[in-house]
Amino acid sequence: MTTELLHSTPHDITRAAGLLREGMLVAFPTETVYGLGANALDEEAVRRVYEVKGRPKDNPMIVHVHTVAQARELMQVVPALFAELTNEFWPGPLTLIVRHNAAVPDVVTAGLDTVALRMPDHSITRQLLHETAVPVAAPSANISGRPSPTDARTVYAELQGRIAAVLDGGDCPVGIESTVLDLTTREPVILRPGTVTREDLEDVIQSRVHFIESYEGAPRSPGTKYRHYAPRVPVYIVPHDPDPAAMDAALRAAVAAQSRAGWRVGLLAPECWHDAGATHFSSLHDGRAVDYARLLYAGLRTLDDCGVDVIICPGIEAVGVGYAVMNRLLKAGEII
Ligand code: TXA
Ligand code: MG
Repeated sequence: MTTELLHSTPHDITRAAGLLREGMLVAFPTETVYGLGANALDEEAVRRVYEVKGRPKDNPMIVHVHTVAQARELMQVVPALFAELTNEFWPGPLTLIVRHNAAVPDVVTAGLDTVALRMPDHSITRQLLHETAVPVAAPSANISGRPSPTDARTVYAELQGRIAAVLDGGDCPVGIESTVLDLTTREPVILRPGTVTREDLEDVIQSRVHFIESYEGAPRSPGTKYRHYAPRVPVYIVPHDPDPAAMDAALRAAVAAQSRAGWRVGLLAPECWHDAGATHFSSLHDGRAVDYARLLYAGLRTLDDCGVDVIICPGIEAVGVGYAVMNRLLKAGEII
């Protein structure tokens, strides 16, 4: 199969929507990461997404919608907090877990009685979902276990020949996957942290919001048990130190130690460490949590492809968006 490379023109978006409606697989941009889309109501198409990604069959997919009404058509009961949350955060990087009705095929939800719903905040995606006019099931557009792609070139390199088209919408502005919030528990539980933070949610809904790690008895998100986000080479995380001088010393020492051991070191770090002596450097700009989120996956892939032996990355404080960043970093590597 030849994979078409489509661009953000009205003609190409219409073409992508047509392919999706016909049951073909199309990778498309969102504000978080690229998704590998299939018509969520077409079981055969959804089954092929699992095959192409090598995704375990028990890991359900997020269904992307264009309107709140389209989301409600898939739900059995509408949770009390649904309206408040969607008013505030949709379109945006927040996925809501709710009970689904018979319209949602089992293959999408891996047989669970819940479904993950999200309305992406990206003009091209919104136009695509509008024209497709069906809900679109889409996991991140990577082979299972690889970092999620944040640009179309990466998707094309990884999936060409196996899907009908890649719709190029440039670099994803957020860079890590959406926050996944379970609304089927007594109080909402974050199954996967993202840039919509616990604080953001609690400000809006006047209820406690839990992290799955500290919520007894809540079901785990099936996806969180799999190895994720990992480049081929080892990733070593230098733990965050609130004292900048101590952090600087620790990071430089880590780079020096790996270099002395004869390894080619890839350093993924804020710009201020450009001169830290690594073989290859990939920038995390100013090192704010949102910079980390935006540049993390692309940086891991770039350094991996440079042929380094080890990647070093400084940790950041695990609060707010930093909590989501550290969640992904700790899945890609380990603390040294
Ligand atoms: O930002 C994103 O969410 C991206 C873009 C493309 O929208 N999508 C994405 O999809 O990250 P994926 O498949 O890589 O991750 C979906 C996560 C997995 O951890 C999966 O287990 C969880 O959502 N999930 C899906 N349906 C679920 C359900 N019914 N209950 C619990 N977790 C669910
Ligand atoms: Mg994924």
